[in-house]
Amino acid sequence: MTTTPLGPNHTPFDRLGHDAAVDLAKRFYDHMDAHEPALVAVHRQDDEGRIAPIVRERFTAFLVEWLGGPALYSPKHGHPRLRMRHAPFPIGTDLRDAWVRCMKAALDHPTVDDEVREYLNRRFAEVADFLRNRPDA
Ligand code: HEM
Repeated sequence: MTTTPLGPNHTPFDRLGHDAAVDLAKRFYDHMDAHEPALVAVHRQDDEGRIAPIVRERFTAFLVEWLGGPALYSPKHGHPRLRMRHAPFPIGTDLRDAWVRCMKAALDHPTVDDEVREYLNRRFAEVADFLRNRPDA
């Protein structure tokens, strides 16, 4: 489930470091909360209608592990099985593109160098497309 390493001995996590990886997940949901109401609407929310802390926590743990960092997700939650876990949500091109916009905005930050940014934008776009489970109307 981890990304293909960027090089023989380094992963995106090696390049980013722990704090930048955690900040990436934070910026991703901050952008979603601020700019993508239709995407927020399919997630669990807090009393103010923002993405619930539990959602942020689980995705952050996944992201650290997926980028090649410590296994914070799978020992606790099992294999991510992303298609199965996303099956309840109607993911067509609109939600896919909204998700990709949030991640693109989050990756556009000085703690992410150009090579890592390009690589991750490409990988996230592939995974997001793989999670589509509804034909467009
Ligand atoms: C394609 C558009 C996507 C949509 C619309 C979407 C939507 C969602 C929703 C609604 C949840 C559940 C939130 C909740 O518990 O309330 C979720 C969870 C999650 N998503 Fe996505 N997602 C998308 C793409 C992705 C991608 C590309 C990845 C990985 C690279 C990903 C990884 C995860 C993970 C790890 C969780 C947490 C699963 C858990 O509860 O353990 N998602 N997503």
